[in-house]
Amino acid sequence: MKKNNFWKKKNVLITGISGFVGSNLAKNLSNNGANVVGLTKKKKKKDSLLFLEKIHKKVHVVFGDITNRKLIKKILKKYKIQICFHLAAQVEVGLARREPYGTWDTNVRGTYTLLDALKENRINIKSIIIASSDKAYGEHGLNKMPYKENYQLKPIFPYDTSKACADMIAQSYASKLFRLPIVITRFSNIYGPGQLNFTALIPDLIRSCILNKKFKMRGNGESIRDYIYIDDIVYVYKLLSKKLYLNPKKYSGEVFNAGTNIPHKTKDILKEIFLYRKKNKELKKITKNMKKNKTSGELSIQLMDFKKLKKYFGWRPQYKFEHILPIVYDWYENYFKKKYK
Ligand SMILES: NC(=O)c1ccc[n+]([C@@H]2O[C@H](COP(=O)([O-])OP(=O)(O)OC[C@H]3O[C@@H](n4cnc5c(N)ncnc54)[C@H](O)[C@@H]3O)[C@@H](O)[C@H]2O)c1
Repeated sequence: MKKNNFWKKKNVLITGISGFVGSNLAKNLSNNGANVVGLTKKKKKKDSLLFLEKIHKKVHVVFGDITNRKLIKKILKKYKIQICFHLAAQVEVGLARREPYGTWDTNVRGTYTLLDALKENRINIKSIIIASSDKAYGEHGLNKMPYKENYQLKPIFPYDTSKACADMIAQSYASKLFRLPIVITRFSNIYGPGQLNFTALIPDLIRSCILNKKFKMRGNGESIRDYIYIDDIVYVYKLLSKKLYLNPKKYSGEVFNAGTNIPHKTKDILKEIFLYRKKNKELKKITKNMKKNKTSGELSIQLMDFKKLKKYFGWRPQYKFEHILPIVYDWYENYFKKKYK
């Protein structure tokens, strides 16, 4: 007997569809028969998985800004959107520090513009997922790790505050004031094929190995992060949006963390990748230099408690960094081969 496919013919909006997570989610949902519409600001087509893998041919892509209320209303009406994933954001932490205004505009105004348009066009909408982030928690220190969903949001850095604001605005729209069906996700650092933001550590390290490009560590290598593979994240997004769709009373307003709760020092990720390609000499040089670096504008430690997802749905991450690294590395090798052929 054929398995019942929840996603078949569901009208789905993904904001930020040309981004790393958006492209991977769009690929999965369109393969599962969903009618996917995506909004993106991005015009440069070659640095997005959506266009590289021709996923854009299976979905509708609308180019525009997330703060354009009129455009969003038009999309919601025209495509009769039932499920929405809000991923559009300015995600570069360094850029956010240099130009906070633009980051807050996109990440905060963008979020309430979308949610307000959804509030006014709520006939079809059954499930809204808002991408917050582990960064929204801010600094809680080693003894308080891993972050739990009930921790206070106390960010300071601009990207982190932008995500916390979006998170709280979403909580307001989910409350009995507005009753929109919303689940908020706080995920740790995501990595995997299609991540072409080279300000992120893993893509930057792999690129530097492949292209023999000098690598400069931002801090002293001691900060601790939790890394989760993109396929785990696509799975969680689908799971949460489906559960919310089927039972909005039970799940609306809930917040879910996802990560692995496995600590990786930045210097260990560097070591893992460089030793995988036997770049011992280069590794030694970088390690020696980075000890003098100061780490400012970054949280010291971030780990995710995912017990809530486990308790509710039996979820746990399926992938470990050291096991999946060869697949990720291969993907970037092919990407650069095509780019520079
Ligand atoms: N990648 C991670 O490690 C991670 C971890 C936790 C949470 N998140 C959150 O997940 C979401 C997706 O992250 P990503 O890594 O795919 O980011 P990305 O930078 O790869 O993609 C961002 C997308 O948003 C779009 N966008 C940016 N500004 C826009 C604007 N003003 N109007 C319309 N579209 C705009 C971009 O064009 C792109 O399609 C973000 O909200 C991010 O905060 C990411």
